[in-house]
Amino acid sequence: MLIAGNWKMFRGPDPEALAGLDAIVCPPYTRLADCVAAGLTTYAQNVHWEPEGAFTGEISAPMLLELGVAGALVGHSERRQLFGETDAGVARRAEAALAAGLGVIACVGETLAERDGGHTADVLVRQTSVAFDGLRGEALERVVIAYEPVWAIGTGRVATPEQARESHQLVRATLDRVTGAHSGARVPVLYGGSVTAANASALFAEAEVDGALVGGASLDAAAFFRIATAAAAG
Ligand code: PGA
Repeated sequence: MLIAGNWKMFRGPDPEALAGLDAIVCPPYTRLADCVAAGLTTYAQNVHWEPEGAFTGEISAPMLLELGVAGALVGHSERRQLFGETDAGVARRAEAALAAGLGVIACVGETLAERDGGHTADVLVRQTSVAFDGLRGEALERVVIAYEPVWAIGTGRVATPEQARESHQLVRATLDRVTGAHSGARVPVLYGGSVTAANASALFAEAEVDGALVGGASLDAAAFFRIATAAAAG
């Protein structure tokens, strides 16, 4: 089981309060160094595809490595919806991060309108295949996918374990197809969207769920520890 906490644009808990936590933390850029110094496995919330250049507001993979950061989220739905990130841009970010030696947690997921319109499968196949088309070799070992239905993020409305299973199976099958390897079985597929200490165990009981990407509940150190404990038990 793999647990990651996405602090978004919140200051988050004191890194010292998370000592001993078996999880990845994704703090805002200003807190990356503190989290690394506290010994936490630390991922950025995004990464640019170029090593440097005139890209105001962006941070590159070599810059993250210099800080001791271990990886980055890419393609979070807030980036896609609020900041215009495209499937192709997400693919470039993932490729650059992996080429630099970072880990990547790539987020995929459908909106409510897409689900209601019967387009969930199309969206998951497109987002997964564009992000990892042609990826080969050792870099696959550093890939994690987070299935995050947009309608479940920050809404208190969590996907059922059955909905997660169906989506995770599709993501794995798509990965197998585009990477030409049996990577789908090896790449961890996390569920994200309104995960709490109260609902985590039921999700972790589903064999297709390899862990969770936690937003709001990761801002509360005690709640985040409880989710990590549920993961260790599940
Ligand atoms: P949430 O966010 O747990 O607050 O729903 C999840 C995410 O956006 O990664």
